[in-house]
Amino acid sequence: MNEDPITHRYIQSRAWFQRAEESLVEGVNSPSRGAAFYPGGPVFLEHGRGSHVWDVDGNEYIDFMMSFGATIQGHAHPKIIDVVTRTIALGSHFAAATPAEVEAAERVCRMVPTAEVVRFANTGSEATMLALRLARAHTARTKFLKFEGHYHGWYDPYCLNGHSHPIAQLGPPEDPTKIPDSDGIPSSVFDDVIVAPWNDVPTLENILRRHGRELAAIITEPIMANMGCILPHDGYLQKVCDLAHEYDALFILDEVVTGFRYAPGGCQEYYGLKPDISTFGKALGAGFPIGAVAGPRSILDRMRWGDQMVLHYGTFNSHRLTMRVVAENLDLLSAEGTYKKLHAIGNAAIAGLREVFRRRKVPAIVQGFGPMYQIYFTEKDAIHDYRDYCTYVDTRRYSHFVHLLMEQGIYMTPSNGLHWIISTVHSEKDVATLVVAVDQSCRELGF
Ligand SMILES: Cc1ncc(COP(=O)(O)O)c(C=O)c1O
Repeated sequence: MNEDPITHRYIQSRAWFQRAEESLVEGVNSPSRGAAFYPGGPVFLEHGRGSHVWDVDGNEYIDFMMSFGATIQGHAHPKIIDVVTRTIALGSHFAAATPAEVEAAERVCRMVPTAEVVRFANTGSEATMLALRLARAHTARTKFLKFEGHYHGWYDPYCLNGHSHPIAQLGPPEDPTKIPDSDGIPSSVFDDVIVAPWNDVPTLENILRRHGRELAAIITEPIMANMGCILPHDGYLQKVCDLAHEYDALFILDEVVTGFRYAPGGCQEYYGLKPDISTFGKALGAGFPIGAVAGPRSILDRMRWGDQMVLHYGTFNSHRLTMRVVAENLDLLSAEGTYKKLHAIGNAAIAGLREVFRRRKVPAIVQGFGPMYQIYFTEKDAIHDYRDYCTYVDTRRYSHFVHLLMEQGIYMTPSNGLHWIISTVHSEKDVATLVVAVDQSCRELGF
């Protein structure tokens, strides 16, 4: 019998991991679930209900990762189960026109301010891939600008400067060194990508003076959600939009994380923005695979069949089962008070964590608001951009901290680059339990 309490807690997970390594690369299907963040092997989850999940050893957790934000209605929501059961009994998918996709699209167009029309795909990566193709076709330009530390999926040209690196490797802000996130991408792909620091208007203006006229688009996350949770400075996003237009480039807002989370119409509603193209995923599908591109007809109509059309095929586009889930999910999200509650629970969690860190004198801050936030172990008052993150954030301590939390029944990814998610089913009780667990973990860290 193993006497180590930690190993003892995860006996079945360890056994599954050993078995998984026989048939899966690294024992997982996405590197963020594997050895990079779980040196001893990941926890294998078996089932979920509401805001809670259970692993294969029977350990129960409150889930604050929520499938990287995809399960905005929590797990096994009765209304989602009901719609899935009713729909699948009549066939899962026909790869043909269906009423289900029309009803889902109508709701997206109703909720998202700039969605005159929408095109469904299966993942956020597909959505951003399509957005770039549309922008290139619309402007007849090839290059585009992305920001350091922003993640837009794993399509070749986006896989640049998305991981954290020592500051010495980053190059000057006005001409960042291009650092590929993946092997296997021809370096010529990156000739068409201009990289800029985020939240820094003068440097962006400087870069645009050199490259602005070549750009098809500037793509940005509204809240930087892949270096934790970094908020835009006041007026910054509008300024990026204006600058893109000054150079006749499109402004693509990647709302894969923020869409349907901060407001019914995502961050474009929250911040009052008018992107030319916006992309969605995650929360839109309430746990089912989804991606979507939305915008005006003048741009999206380029996908209409014809000689110079923008190609977008997909056997599983507007998957019927997912479309029914999307419609149900959007109806649930549209109910009176939903976003007020999401924000209130999230803000209560943030306040509770800040209070623990203050009381125990932990050098840690909590950034974000409402349904999404992240903790940074740092001496700084704020993390404003990628370079701050690379320089001042103790990601190893964060990882250790999250592993301690997991032992106390809080489920979260140990990756500091991700963020805590509040779903519609998290409760004040969940927040209270979280605060106690964070207090205990800080004590175990020696504070
Ligand atoms: C901002 C952003 N865009 C796009 C994507 C890609 O979405 P998916 O993982 O569904 O392909 C992600 C995924 O995390 C993301 O955070």
